[in-house]
Amino acid sequence: MAKIKIACLPGDGIGVEVMASAKEVLQTLATVEEDLKIELVDFNWGSDHYIETGEMMPEHAIDTLKGFDAVFLGAVGNPALIPDHISLWGMLIKIRRELSLSLNIRPARVINGIQSPLHSPRKFDFIVVRENSEGEYSESGGVIHNGVNEIAVQNAIFTRQATERAMRFAFDLARKRESKVTSATKSNGIVHSMPFWDRVFQEVAKDYPDVKTESIHIDALAAFIVTKPQNFDVIVASNLFGDILTDLAGAVMGSIGIAPSANLNPDGRFPSMFEPVHGSAPDIAGQEKANPIGQIWTAALMLDHLGHLNASKRIIEAIEEVTKQGIKTADVGGAYSTREVTNAICDYLISSA
Ligand code: NAI
Ligand code: MG
Repeated sequence: MAKIKIACLPGDGIGVEVMASAKEVLQTLATVEEDLKIELVDFNWGSDHYIETGEMMPEHAIDTLKGFDAVFLGAVGNPALIPDHISLWGMLIKIRRELSLSLNIRPARVINGIQSPLHSPRKFDFIVVRENSEGEYSESGGVIHNGVNEIAVQNAIFTRQATERAMRFAFDLARKRESKVTSATKSNGIVHSMPFWDRVFQEVAKDYPDVKTESIHIDALAAFIVTKPQNFDVIVASNLFGDILTDLAGAVMGSIGIAPSANLNPDGRFPSMFEPVHGSAPDIAGQEKANPIGQIWTAALMLDHLGHLNASKRIIEAIEEVTKQGIKTADVGGAYSTREVTNAICDYLISSA
């Protein structure tokens, strides 16, 4: 296979630490997987760049990223020095919008050796497909008048195109996994957009008669993620519902430090972006405490997306082998450093080759 070119954006805080770990894993894997050839190119954009230059990324950044097969991001944000709306909108959200990354895919499953906070959970393994470009997160609206007369209006935008795109992606995924799609709705309370969401869901379902479906209100669904996560396989959700459900899913897995995510450009016109669910964690930055698994699992999603299924599987296998041996960071109950966990994963990749 041709060499894959990856733009690495470590960003801020622990993003820099977990990116170093994931790059090492990718480079190690490339030495043992014959048809995996990777070129990793670093871009040190982010909060330090902002402090030096007044911008999170240079003007040509998006054009530069378009020349890569994928974008691999650590985390963005240094809230002690720069307000979050400047750092996130200047980099993370700018990339999501300008590369049309309209789907956010977030798997959640039991990892061997990592204890879920749930009391004796059954084995679960599901994927949330979150609409990533519109819905409740829109800039449409405003605030008028002052004092007791003040009015805030926030519009949720649901287009047929984006709604259908998220749903078709979910159905295609469920078909591959030979399972079902659960739609996160709230048509009993939100009377325009959610009945529309339900209608599009039923229409799309007609094209997939072999895939089972169900619709569950988001409040009940949140409770079920805690009480019976094993019942789910592919969940399709709007931007806000998907955002909340996936933080909950990360918690149920055992730590936000292990949760991966993919921001996909569905038509392949631009590169997709891969980043863990967590942020820059300033409270633990620079202390060798960051769990590198979220970033490393994200690297596996990236390889899977780029067609290297075997390499992707090997990463997941290495992660589970190491956690099973108890080589874990403190957030998941271990006593090992970022570096020790990374080394153990790389060692396993070499010894199992
Ligand atoms: P956070 O995810 O950075 O941290 C939340 C808590 O989880 C902290 O106690 C942290 O120590 C812990 N944690 C996170 N990742 C961990 C890991 N890999 N290993 C061990 N523990 C981990 O969220 P927070 O504190 O709300 O945000 C910090 C900064 O990150 C802010 O500037 C925020 O805007 C930004 N952020 C950036 C994101 C991104 O770039 N995709 C996503 C979320 C937040
Ligand atoms: Mg979130």
